[in-house]
Amino acid sequence: MDSRNIRLAVIPGDGIGVEVVAEGLKVLQAVGAKAETTTYDLGAKRYHATGEVLTDVVLDELRGYDAILLGAVGDPSVPPGVLERDLLLKLRFRLDHYVNLRPVKLFPGVETPLGGARPEDIDMIVVREGTEGPYAGAGGVMRRDTPQEIATQESLNTAFGVERVVRYAFDKARSRPRRKLTLVHKTNVLTYAGDLWSRTFDRVGQEYPEVQTDYCHVDAASMFFVTQPERFDVIVTDNLFGDILTDIGAAVAGGIGLAASGNVNPDRTAPSMFEPVHGSAPDIAGQGKADPTATILSVAMLLDHLGLAEEAARVEQAVADDLLERQTGWTARTTHEIGDDIAARVAG
Ligand code: NAI
Ligand code: MG
Repeated sequence: MDSRNIRLAVIPGDGIGVEVVAEGLKVLQAVGAKAETTTYDLGAKRYHATGEVLTDVVLDELRGYDAILLGAVGDPSVPPGVLERDLLLKLRFRLDHYVNLRPVKLFPGVETPLGGARPEDIDMIVVREGTEGPYAGAGGVMRRDTPQEIATQESLNTAFGVERVVRYAFDKARSRPRRKLTLVHKTNVLTYAGDLWSRTFDRVGQEYPEVQTDYCHVDAASMFFVTQPERFDVIVTDNLFGDILTDIGAAVAGGIGLAASGNVNPDRTAPSMFEPVHGSAPDIAGQGKADPTATILSVAMLLDHLGLAEEAARVEQAVADDLLERQTGWTARTTHEIGDDIAARVAG
């Protein structure tokens, strides 16, 4: 990969997505990664102008890139769910992003609402399943707008889908110093899906004797994220539980402005997509108030995915140094200023 350009598709999206992506690209350039970027104006503007969200033609074009960097999509002027389902979820499903990777890491100097928690206590990675569960779109509605309305939203779990994400999580756990993997589910109530997940977890785990395994119900895990985050190293869980749990993770690790993520296709049959966990934040859009750190950390994950581990480490270190300095004499910086400062550290 060193010798050639990264072919990168960029989807800035809406609101602060545009602002934070600019800073992510600035840092990408500063680290010396040779990237050839193509910008796609997907999101609210395109929807209003053409009625299109994500056509199959654009989707096929996106397949040709090495990776995708996404800001955020969503705008109050678009009916809820349109961009989320027809853009975000469509990308995740069609590009087979079956691993949604969300690190939960407290950097030194960052304030956490958990009194007394140290950086070594909050350092985990949530491996959230990305293509199945209740997000698959199965279900329907009957007798709508009557007192007898029926709505179902089914959780789909396939042996194939569960096994591949569980296997990825075991590999991830094996590569980290603690080598611990926790399955999070609700096996005591969701007995059909839970049984498939726990049998798969146990069976695959036999191939990884060096990985210590644990199980936690999702409600207890939510509590432990706040009371004993040091319990966790790598977590594997289904799409919905992972979505909720990682927002708690973002909160305990310093807030939504720092939370990065990767929608990963580990088989590399399509490009993976990296994005901050946060949305388009219409309340602060266009004011230079957005923290671009989550996007910059997502760029580090992107570099790592493309085999540029040294560059990824340099970006993460620059962020860590910047965060440490914020603690002392933090003066509010604009989105650009934070991006400039981190880019300067990366280059220097
Ligand atoms: P949000 O994440 O956009 O904002 C929640 C709160 O966090 C707001 O007060 C916002 O100002 C603040 N915030 C978010 N990112 C920040 C940053 N980088 N720096 C400083 N403050 C930040 O979530 P919300 O308000 O629920 O959704 C807004 C829109 O974004 C909706 O249309 C929603 O559907 C969409 N959305 C899109 C996502 C995506 O593209 N992956 C993910 C989540 C929401
Ligand atoms: Mg979420």
